[in-house]
Amino acid sequence: MTAKTPPGPRGLPVLGNTHQWARDPCSFRERCAERFGRVVNYEIIGWDAYMLTDPADVKRVLEDRETFPKHRESDDQLREVVGDGLITSEGDLWERQREAIQPAFYLDRIRRYADVMVSRAEALTDGWRDGGTVDLQSEMMRTTLEILVEAMFGSDIDLEARGIYDAVEAMQEPLKPRNQPVTFLAPDWAPVPFLRRADAALDHLETQIYDILDDRRGADADREECREADRDDLLAMLIDADAEMDDEQIRDEMLTFLFAGHETTALSLTYVWDLLSRNPAVEARLHEELDAKIDGRPTVEDAFAFEYVEAVVKEAMRLYPPAHEIRREPAEDVTIGEYEIPEGSLLVLPTWVLHRDERFWDDPEAFRPERWLDSEADDRPEYAYFPFGGGPRRCVGQSFAMVEAQLVLATIAREWTVDRNYDDLEISASVTLRPKGDVTVTTRRR
Ligand code: HEM
Repeated sequence: MTAKTPPGPRGLPVLGNTHQWARDPCSFRERCAERFGRVVNYEIIGWDAYMLTDPADVKRVLEDRETFPKHRESDDQLREVVGDGLITSEGDLWERQREAIQPAFYLDRIRRYADVMVSRAEALTDGWRDGGTVDLQSEMMRTTLEILVEAMFGSDIDLEARGIYDAVEAMQEPLKPRNQPVTFLAPDWAPVPFLRRADAALDHLETQIYDILDDRRGADADREECREADRDDLLAMLIDADAEMDDEQIRDEMLTFLFAGHETTALSLTYVWDLLSRNPAVEARLHEELDAKIDGRPTVEDAFAFEYVEAVVKEAMRLYPPAHEIRREPAEDVTIGEYEIPEGSLLVLPTWVLHRDERFWDDPEAFRPERWLDSEADDRPEYAYFPFGGGPRRCVGQSFAMVEAQLVLATIAREWTVDRNYDDLEISASVTLRPKGDVTVTTRRR
């Protein structure tokens, strides 16, 4: 039997399916999956794309990084910012870096980061008042950035004084939904103010990173004897002579973690708050668990003992996976089912689609954390749910993010609830799945 080209939606000359996809990538992919099945072929922005909707195919792709490396052209855009950090590197470099960095995420380290997570969440709500108004998205972004920097790079870094908040924010401007079309179409040199601000912010961040690196080396040289005990964060691992990283590589990794390590968790938390405010029965059950299990401040042991809190976080990531699709590029022609997929094409593993697929989820649109607690969870194929990817390139920060999301949620939800000041949460699927506008809420003391 000769392999066939997979079916797909009819497109326009030159544009292909770009116009349908750009209008709403999530519902475009859902419609395609429903209509065409296991493998769907479409064309976006000149790329010949193949979307896989069978969890077994997703597993095969994610677990074989030799045949299915990352999609080069997609990563090129990211590479302009984070260079060859863990998320964009391939081959031997990636293998070495993953091995050097992985220990920063062992469970004993995460235990130590837990206190930072709780303290930063407490510091956030110190600024809240009963009946006050906040933009939850920026509150969560700021808190997760603080946690990331303190846990990974040290507590002695003053984000405000170093202008790191503002720089990270300026760098995210081009990715905001309203700016995406310009970002995508404008040539590199175009005098678009937010693009030029993002360039300046990247320069500023690089200077700060080298400065932090110098400070750390200087401080460690001053007290060599207590170095082991004091410093075992990510930065210490990057600097460690055994890791043999030059300063440029260290900079790339620090930038990678600044970007990969806070926005996705902040988005997950934002969606949790939105969903809780729409589902009072879920919120009541969450409060019940918090009141029963926490004695004093939440701890990492609490995070490991939570059942419902964890289910709430997982369920929010099912409905709104921040990484709404994962991309790969076959290194050779491959056959999937009866279909041929050419070398160099774009393989799309659509988290969003599989997370809402009726074959695996009862009433898929409903926010029902209970589904993670009952036996329904046992019958699902492995890759019906993969918010953190899978295989060798699975998110290195997965446990960090899960503990962080639960501890931040627990710390805040023990004392606060929020009322939405908007009706629908409009979302946009760009690099990550982001709310389109501000997520403004009124904060209420419980
Ligand atoms: C809810 C939060 C998070 C989500 C949904 C998420 C999602 C993901 C996904 C889907 C991937 C795999 C991408 C691919 O295979 O192409 C990934 C990789 C990665 N993530 Fe996360 N992530 C989260 C939090 C974090 C945190 C907290 C950190 C660091 C502290 C982090 C650092 C990274 C890095 C460095 C990679 C690249 C790993 C490699 O290629 O070896 N992530 N993440």
